[in-house]
Amino acid sequence: MLCPNSGFWRAWLDREAPGSVEETTQHLANCSACHGPNAEGVPNMFPRLANDSSLQARDPTTISRIVLEGTRAPMTGERPTPSAMPAFGWKLNDTEISAVLSYLRSTHGNNAPAVSSDEVMRVRRAIAHNP
Ligand code: HEC
Repeated sequence: MLCPNSGFWRAWLDREAPGSVEETTQHLANCSACHGPNAEGVPNMFPRLANDSSLQARDPTTISRIVLEGTRAPMTGERPTPSAMPAFGWKLNDTEISAVLSYLRSTHGNNAPAVSSDEVMRVRRAIAHNP
């Protein structure tokens, strides 16, 4: 397993992946296991984040909340065991969450404005007051 901070990995990311090395590393470390290294998702399991309209919503409250709190797909007859996304609010700080969301919103076919760490902080506080 290559250390994410190794020179080789950084050089590869610089060449292959758009977005800053920090943002890309964050995405690969926390999100790509489910959503895929190119944000392509896994059909019927994990939603695609590439070319995704909800990810590009003008108001970043919902996506910030999903990353902070996690979420679970509704149970249906076709998906008796719904897939779930874990909460990242305890693991990533506001700056890290804003970086990974901004990275995803500006790459892989998405083209939406960055999410600031202040916006993530606002959502984090709203959840804390109103769980
Ligand atoms: C363990 C698997 C897993 C990991 C890791 C994961 N997710 Fe998810 N994610 C999911 C699932 C499952 C859903 C859909 C839940 C649903 O259908 O409501 C989802 C939904 C989302 C959505 C909403 C997509 C939409 O179109 O509504 C966003 C945004 C998102 N994830 C971002 C991230 C980010 C950013 C990370 C890394 C910090 C991440 N996810 C890590 C499983 C995961």
